[in-house]
Amino acid sequence: MRTSIKSIREKKGKEKIAVLTAYDFPFAKMLDETGIDIILVGDSLGMVLLGYESTLPVTMREMIHHTKAVSRAAKRPLVVSDMPFGSYDSVERASRNARRFIQEGGADAVKLEGGESVATIVKALVRSGIPVMGHLGMTPQSATQLGGYKVQGREPQQAQKISEDAQLLEEAGIFSLVLECVPHRLAEKITKKISCPTIGIGAGPKTDGQVLVLHDLLGFEGSVHPRFVRRYAEFEKEARKAFSRYIADVRSGSFPSLKESFE
Ligand code: KIV
Repeated sequence: MRTSIKSIREKKGKEKIAVLTAYDFPFAKMLDETGIDIILVGDSLGMVLLGYESTLPVTMREMIHHTKAVSRAAKRPLVVSDMPFGSYDSVERASRNARRFIQEGGADAVKLEGGESVATIVKALVRSGIPVMGHLGMTPQSATQLGGYKVQGREPQQAQKISEDAQLLEEAGIFSLVLECVPHRLAEKITKKISCPTIGIGAGPKTDGQVLVLHDLLGFEGSVHPRFVRRYAEFEKEARKAFSRYIADVRSGSFPSLKESFE
């Protein structure tokens, strides 16, 4: 049975929450079996899997397609899907699209970016029975407005705004809040202030949980290496080595051998 929203909330102050992104069946299955608490089908899939330059071109269709694959594998972790850019710009659109994630995609909850500007939408979704995860700080869908992929909340005024937004989202009913690229003291302050769990990414050690993009953790190269990413493997290097060996073996005729052939 999938982890409930209630049990995620109850971890606050007791147990740290481990969250990773996944976009497909095999990785979601491995995460399920290794004990992850939450799988986030992030719109980062646009950059990580689909080769877009930002998350902005990601569509509902793409998100639902990947959410379905993850949901088939996730027996125990909570599945949260990112609402893509433009999919929640009115209460009606947000309600229709969030419902699709639950009914068609098999997700348990949705995540959307923003504070005061989305509070009414969050309230409407929660009222209609759809659990919502908030996302503040460096919100990739508004990276251009924020001056790029930069730490947010270093200026006192900006920090105050993020803190107030966190409070508003909590009042609107979110069950948890992603804090991305904010100073660790601000993340700690917000974590103490709100009663739902905070999930940090580039937000220091004091949040209630942590999230990373799976491909960053595994060591897929990409072009950016943010300082908050800890690499736990060198997947891309290993994969490249394997591909080169295979190509050489085919070209030299040493693959396949007779043992790898049928009589
Ligand atoms: O899209 C995503 O993967 C995210 C996480 C980085 C929080 O929003």
